[in-house]
Amino acid sequence: MSEADQKMICVTLDGEKRLLAIGEKLSALATTELPCGGHGKCGKCKAIVKGEVSPISDKERQALSDSEIAAGVRLLCCTFAEGDCEIVHLDSTSGDLVLMEGKALDQPLDPLFSRYGVALDIGTTTMAARLYAANGTVLADHGMLNPQSVYGADVISRIEAAMGGDAHPLALAVRGAIDEILTVLAQSAGIPAREIDALVVTGNTAMLYLLTETDVEPLSHAPFHVERLFGEVLRADALGLTALQGDASVYLPTCIAAFVGADTVCALLASDICETGKTVLLADIGTNGEMALVHQGTLTVCSTAAGPAFEGVGISMGMRGAIGAIDRVRVENGALVAHVIGEGAPIGICGSGLVDTIACLLETEAIDETGYMEDDEAQIAAPVVLTQQDVRMVQLAKSAICAGLQTLLKTAGVDVSEVESLVLAGGFGSYLDAKNAGRIGLIPAELAQKTAVIGNAALDGASMILLDKSASARADRIAKSAKVKELSADPVFSEFYMMGMMFSD
Ligand code: FES
Repeated sequence: MSEADQKMICVTLDGEKRLLAIGEKLSALATTELPCGGHGKCGKCKAIVKGEVSPISDKERQALSDSEIAAGVRLLCCTFAEGDCEIVHLDSTSGDLVLMEGKALDQPLDPLFSRYGVALDIGTTTMAARLYAANGTVLADHGMLNPQSVYGADVISRIEAAMGGDAHPLALAVRGAIDEILTVLAQSAGIPAREIDALVVTGNTAMLYLLTETDVEPLSHAPFHVERLFGEVLRADALGLTALQGDASVYLPTCIAAFVGADTVCALLASDICETGKTVLLADIGTNGEMALVHQGTLTVCSTAAGPAFEGVGISMGMRGAIGAIDRVRVENGALVAHVIGEGAPIGICGSGLVDTIACLLETEAIDETGYMEDDEAQIAAPVVLTQQDVRMVQLAKSAICAGLQTLLKTAGVDVSEVESLVLAGGFGSYLDAKNAGRIGLIPAELAQKTAVIGNAALDGASMILLDKSASARADRIAKSAKVKELSADPVFSEFYMMGMMFSD
């Protein structure tokens, strides 16, 4: 290694690994403009920074509020790299595909707000929101990465961070992001943010605990007995939201259990599967995979920690579904052919591309059924490669999801052939090739022909609650009727999980 190389350190920028020389300003990696030329004056390079960096400067103290400083916000143009560190932009949507669209809402109108209202979904990795007028029209939507990811990519590591003393900065980080989203929504619609008088905020149970700074200790160990399951209205000022009037209402829908949250309840509400009388599975394949089975009118739910592999995190050249990501791969004349979002040169691979790539490498026999690769890595489209370690990460994640679905079926005594539909909610599910998902064992192969995609159903459900006062009672009924299948100590799940690690046909 050359002397120059030894001075390079690794910086994780919005989930992607980059190299930077020690002593360089973090703004050298910035993908956004530096309107003041990087002189610490405009505040446009604000981002949450964690790790080995220079101490906060006087210039930053002047430009940042106390709560921003407490949340770990820095000016990238005034912060120098001293070792490995991580940056998450406060508005890191440039080029990111944060899933907004869901089904068109066709419902009675009796809104929770009088002027403007916002529905918001706090995902572990991304946040998405819609601004509505009182006549039910969508005026704007906006999404960004969840800035809490500097405290850990998944729910468990955030819970650990909160228990380790970072509960307040974690709350400030997500509250700051909500304020930012509200401000951008209002600007896009040309209205004052302070006229937004109601907010419905959904998310998994841990996200709502972190938002409200509720003690996460019960979420950290079995039996995961949680007292607070929300279904509550709070005031904006009680949550420290500054973009709204203090008395604006913030409704947090009801969660089902410690690891099956209000986002699943909202997705169930939006999907309507509890009302159909059919046998239907629903899966939201995110960092935290949440699943539900409706059979003979009974709703059973579970969740598994799939990890963030399908969101591109922890994969050597992984990235989110943004410009430059390989999102589709197929085999042509024995070689891989990749599609890149934005049609330019590839810079990484996102979840749907990962699933396709592994299905293709199984077809070309570059990977065997145990996941073993003869060569240590496979080129997808230069310079993007898939490594043996990446394949192992996907094996763990896909097996967790599929085993969750199989355990729900087995526990309810339902054969997979009886399932009439597998509904896929959430960002990753919307871009997934169902046949390839079946081929690699992410979903039972028999269900590949029966999948239906419903987009960001958690956000749709939150919107339904925002637009119709009676919808929160329906969501409540769904939450209270659900039977929770706890998977962590379940031998049936363990068996499916171990078996599912393979790529057998
Ligand atoms: S670029 Fe203007 S403050 Fe950093």
